[in-house]
Amino acid sequence: MSAASVYRPLYELAERLSPEIGAGLARLAVRAMPALPLPATRRTRVFGVEFSNPLGCAAGFDRDGRLLTSLMHAGFGFAEIGTVNVGAGAAQMAPLEPVLRNLRRAQRVRRQLRIGVSVGTLVPDLAPAAAAACAQACELLAPCVDFLVLNLSRPGSALRAGNFDAAALRRFLVRAAGANLARDRAPDPVPLLVKVAIAPDAHEPLPRALHEALDAGAAGVVVAWEGWSDRQALYRCLERVAGIVGSRVLVAVGGIHDQDDARACLRSGAQLVEVYRALMQRGPCHTRHLAAVLSRA
Ligand SMILES: Cc1cc2nc3c(=O)[nH]c(=O)nc-3n(C[C@H](O)[C@H](O)[C@H](O)COP(=O)(O)O)c2cc1C
Repeated sequence: MSAASVYRPLYELAERLSPEIGAGLARLAVRAMPALPLPATRRTRVFGVEFSNPLGCAAGFDRDGRLLTSLMHAGFGFAEIGTVNVGAGAAQMAPLEPVLRNLRRAQRVRRQLRIGVSVGTLVPDLAPAAAAACAQACELLAPCVDFLVLNLSRPGSALRAGNFDAAALRRFLVRAAGANLARDRAPDPVPLLVKVAIAPDAHEPLPRALHEALDAGAAGVVVAWEGWSDRQALYRCLERVAGIVGSRVLVAVGGIHDQDDARACLRSGAQLVEVYRALMQRGPCHTRHLAAVLSRA
């Protein structure tokens, strides 16, 4: 019996007890991944950086970057850690401290595992203080990562719902990108992406934030597909997003469980794909296998 086939029923049992126990088991399984030699891969070049394969771990799984080496052993070509939510006020940068410590430790794996950090804020609107905090976070994180993501997909946020002032979002993005550009030691700015969620029941399926972010100069988008049961409709929508994103970077996440899902997203215009539930539900042996298969695609 393989480790992958033992993991799934164990996870289902743990998840039934509580989602926290399920998540704890998944993280334990990732930590337990042995440092086996990684299969030879067909490398992917995205924003001028080589990725060992196009499969990434989505934001939310490793919030502070403590699992980065293990995620490399689980086959991932990249990981988006966070979201690190910074607030307004004196303690605004406190959530960043453990992340920066873990990122410094993980620098030696960065050739094999590209690293992005998702930054967000719990401040309910695009208040200048929140924009300043996100900009400062981007500036501090940029030297340790390959890309940054501003999370505009937080459930319940005005940004996700589309209730925002476009000029404020633009100021927000320009400020975050500007802080990244202004870093004195960096010869190149770190690509700044935005994450937006697309739900199938949205009246206008492409969120305003997507257009605004691209207009404001984002290097690309992470599109999160949530609640789509009609996969063909999802791929058509992804093709539409790819047309808008153009030569910038498109990362797809949401409902990707196996090689067919991942390949279909890559064929529909995504350069990279991320998984969250596939890692939780099927475990790290599955993602390692998936990464190996995608590398041969
Ligand atoms: C428990 C949980 C926590 C999450 N936390 C974050 C987060 O902090 N930041 C973020 O951008 N997305 C977060 N996500 C969303 C995932 O990154 C991903 O977009 C979503 O789960 C869809 O992908 P999947 O179908 O592969 O699970 C979270 C998702 C779950 C289920």
